Amino acid sequence: MTAQLLLLLILLAKENTAEHCDVQSEESNKRCFVKQTLATLPHSPNQLAVDKLTNTLYFSFDAGQGEYLPAALQLDTKRLTVLKGVKDAFAIASDEENGEVYFGGSHGIYRYNPVLKTLKRLLVKNLDIWWLVLKKRLYFIRFPSLKAYFYANKSVKGVSNLNNYTVNQFVFDAEDNIFFINGTGLFGIKNNSTSPILLKDNPRFLGMAVDNSSHVYLCSENSIYVISQMVQKVKKIVSVAGVLGIGFDRDNNLIYSDSHELVRLMPVNSKS
Ligand SMILES: *[C@@H]1O[C@H](CO)[C@@H](O)[C@H](O)[C@H]1NC(C)=O
Ligand SMILES: *[C@@H]1O[C@H](CO)[C@@H](O)[C@H](O)[C@H]1NC(C)=O
Ligand SMILES: *[C@@H]1O[C@H](CO)[C@@H](O)[C@H](O)[C@H]1NC(C)=O
Ligand SMILES: *[C@@H]1O[C@H](CO)[C@@H](O)[C@H](O)[C@H]1NC(C)=O
Ligand SMILES: *[C@@H]1O[C@H](CO)[C@@H](O)[C@H](O)[C@H]1NC(C)=O
Ligand SMILES: *[C@@H]1O[C@H](CO)[C@@H](O)[C@H](O)[C@H]1NC(C)=O
Repeated sequence: MTAQLLLLLILLAKENTAEHCDVQSEESNKRCFVKQTLATLPHSPNQLAVDKLTNTLYFSFDAGQGEYLPAALQLDTKRLTVLKGVKDAFAIASDEENGEVYFGGSHGIYRYNPVLKTLKRLLVKNLDIWWLVLKKRLYFIRFPSLKAYFYANKSVKGVSNLNNYTVNQFVFDAEDNIFFINGTGLFGIKNNSTSPILLKDNPRFLGMAVDNSSHVYLCSENSIYVISQMVQKVKKIVSVAGVLGIGFDRDNNLIYSDSHELVRLMPVNSKS
């Protein structure tokens, strides 16, 4: 290593410690975050869920047999538990009303009650689940058709305003507007409408989630975005490499996964 390069590295390191800023937001207020590695994983998931009642992060990881094993990480104690009994937890969602967690994959949908530690498989045959959403009802996207459905009265029904659209992921905002991504881009559907509006077709979005106020966040390969409420503009917040999935903890801190770890972005000036 040349002396010059070494000097540069020392200067960079100094600057880092002076600012304590691993990630700086690209908004006008330039918020500063430190990265907190929550877990190191061989292959990490797309959908993350946090049970806000207990501040527990649910995620899954590739255990090597082509199936995803679910795990729970209590974010205050950092206690990590691998849950047994679920075959393939590719998709995960939590029910904010009662803290129950749903897992979906090639063996259908399971409902987990963390308090009673009970696990039930829903009585629907031939379900391969790609994505799960809980908003008063249990919604899901089936694989490989990538069509959206919901579960009610022990039967499966199509989501009428997503009828026959190919949907890779979707969420609801606070007003029950639907936002979805597919191979074409990011679309919004007003709560009682059936016509999707293209919001952005570039970059390619890989994941989406809502924060604790139902604001819609998205990630692309190297950035995280939020949909601003007023004009439905997609705004870049931070650049982070390799993001695959996003979620929010009880205090609304952003958690993301990439191909090898789960990271939480902690605000530097947080008083908590
Ligand atoms: C489920 O069944 C109840 C009672 O039979 C009915 O009132 C309700 O509309 C049904 N829900 C759906 C989504 O079909
Ligand atoms: C959706 O597709 C199914 C099967 O292809 C068809 O029967 C149905 O009419 C379509 N629904 C709408 C709203 O286009
Ligand atoms: C649906 O949108 C309308 C108009 O924006 C709004 O008044 C209404 O509250 C929304 N519905 C729900 C369930 O939020
Ligand atoms: C994505 O959804 C839009 C709106 O429904 C549709 O026009 C488009 O064909 C879809 N793209 C893909 C790749 O399915
Ligand atoms: C949208 O539909 C809901 C019921 O699904 C209804 O209560 C509401 O009034 C509708 N809003 C508009 C703006 O039509
Ligand atoms: C969401 O998080 C923010 C920031 O921590 C907090 O002020 C707010 O009370 C939270 N809201 C809900 C509904 O939990």
